[in-house]
Amino acid sequence: MCGIVGYVGPRPSQDILLAGLARLEYRGYDSAGVAVIDGDGALGMRKKAGKLAMLRDSLKDAPLADGSTGIGHTRWATHGGPTDVNAHPHLADDDKLAVIHNGIIENFSALREELLADGVVFRSETDTEVAAALLGREYAGNGGDLQHAFRSVVNRLEGAFTLLAMHQDHPGLVVGARRNSPLVIGLGEGENFLGSDVAAFIEHTRRALAIGQDQIVSITPDAVTVTDFFGAPVQAEPFDVSWDAAAAEKGGWSSFMAKEVAEQPEAVANTIRGRIHDGQVVIPELDGLDELFIGINRVIITACGTASYAALVGKYAIEQWARVAVDVELAHEFRYRDPVIGADTLVVSISQSGETMDTLMAVKYARERGARTLSICNTQGATIPRESDAVVYTHAGPEVAVASTKAFSAQITALLLLGLHMGRVRGTVADASADVAELAALPEKVARVLESEQEHVTQLAGWMADTRSVLFLGRHVGYPIALEGALKLKEISYIHAEGFAAGELKHGPIALIEPGQPVFVLVPSPRHSALVHSKVVSNIQEIRARGARVIVIAEEGDAAVLPFADEVIHIPLAGAMFEPLLAVVPLQIFAMALATAKGLDVDQPRNLAKSVTVE
Ligand code: F6R
Repeated sequence: MCGIVGYVGPRPSQDILLAGLARLEYRGYDSAGVAVIDGDGALGMRKKAGKLAMLRDSLKDAPLADGSTGIGHTRWATHGGPTDVNAHPHLADDDKLAVIHNGIIENFSALREELLADGVVFRSETDTEVAAALLGREYAGNGGDLQHAFRSVVNRLEGAFTLLAMHQDHPGLVVGARRNSPLVIGLGEGENFLGSDVAAFIEHTRRALAIGQDQIVSITPDAVTVTDFFGAPVQAEPFDVSWDAAAAEKGGWSSFMAKEVAEQPEAVANTIRGRIHDGQVVIPELDGLDELFIGINRVIITACGTASYAALVGKYAIEQWARVAVDVELAHEFRYRDPVIGADTLVVSISQSGETMDTLMAVKYARERGARTLSICNTQGATIPRESDAVVYTHAGPEVAVASTKAFSAQITALLLLGLHMGRVRGTVADASADVAELAALPEKVARVLESEQEHVTQLAGWMADTRSVLFLGRHVGYPIALEGALKLKEISYIHAEGFAAGELKHGPIALIEPGQPVFVLVPSPRHSALVHSKVVSNIQEIRARGARVIVIAEEGDAAVLPFADEVIHIPLAGAMFEPLLAVVPLQIFAMALATAKGLDVDQPRNLAKSVTVE
């Protein structure tokens, strides 16, 4: 949601801003704009509702004088519809000052009233214009000190925001601030950048600085200054981005989603790399942090959407290996009741982006309540890991498609690693060698599913392009995968889909079964539990008897399912905890192929944003 880019340096900024915004498109947006201080020191601005192409066309038709200081924005509408006027930047101080913003300013109505009473005339319905007008008033009132004015404004704002501003009387300077919303600095040679995430500037530099909560940054071509909201200097942490611009390119694939599904063996392998030593799982980032795992009596895993389904797999793994009770809580439900947590609770948060506001707020809440916090995250320099006591990074590389695929696999991998790491530290895993061997074998097995089932599942999706509803059933760790299969289908193909625990069938959902109803059933290996396997086979018989069209995902050689299945998708043999990583792949391919068959944009489904930075 909302993408932010800032640039100061020797080069003309418009192309840099537009390219940065294009790389942030994946976050989801409905309008875009840029402001530039041109070579004569005048501020120019252009903004357009719709896709970035609309803005580009407008700039082509009526070029804006270029200059080497600029800010750019993609907006996902919150206050006020997605119109040209509501798009960012917003101007103030006789259009000499430009402001862009991500987040929600919660006290904007009171501030707006105050400014209206002062005679300010607003052009848009946005909270951002209120911040711009406030900054304009401060700036005019303090004799033209932009940094000072900016500090006093951010101290008056409540809510979540990343705010960037520049003034035509200060070419070569962009100021930014962040509270509960993302902002990263890109460090160049004689030029500097700001971005919602590193994708905004990755083609220019991989050297970055993470800015903390409630901090302000000023960039000029030669200097970066970070302070707190009161002006006290802060030491920001530099880091090197571990991927390059090519990793975030489509590179010949039909969609980012297709590329990311195919990248799963690598995502899993990269997440495991460096974390297995002498047949044991040892996560180097957790070195010296054993106290996080000892003396706890409960683990809560909190996340949203797909990440919450990874969390459910993690529950099974951590309970089995670390012998501690695990609950999974949707982050947006967690802090709005009075959960029983304290110093003996470990709260694990999972987030691909590391910026999901619901998850961030859950982490902050857990910390305030004295819980220990650990995050699993795919994005370096993101807010959630910074707010946690420890972080285990998934190394899936940049995920651009809105629907999460490789990040999901990497999250499950990280949770399996965490479970085995905790089991070792807590002394509850005597011999991890078999599980470690399973982990090591995963990338090759995921690759095998991709290779063997791609065509079959794509064909299946083609036949089902007119289907109006699909159900997914699973038991044990297959249950979260059923939920994930349904979510993938809903979000990119707009088909009604539901995932159920197979055992729930007779408690209600079986009423949905009518002749021809497609149902995917995830069948656990009989080698893990003959009992659970036989229960799922019975469930298949029950729905088959009522006319369901049954598509089974089962391990190679599972003959028991054959008589009752209309279609069988095979996955390689794997240990119980490892099957989800194989079983999810055909479901991702199915959703993608069905959406493609319906002519839909699989990378940017309607109404969705990749990074949900508002509650
Ligand atoms: C679904 C999807 C979302 C995210 C959820 C959390 O494909 O991508 O459900 O999983 O919005 O996002 P992160 O992991 O960034 O916190």
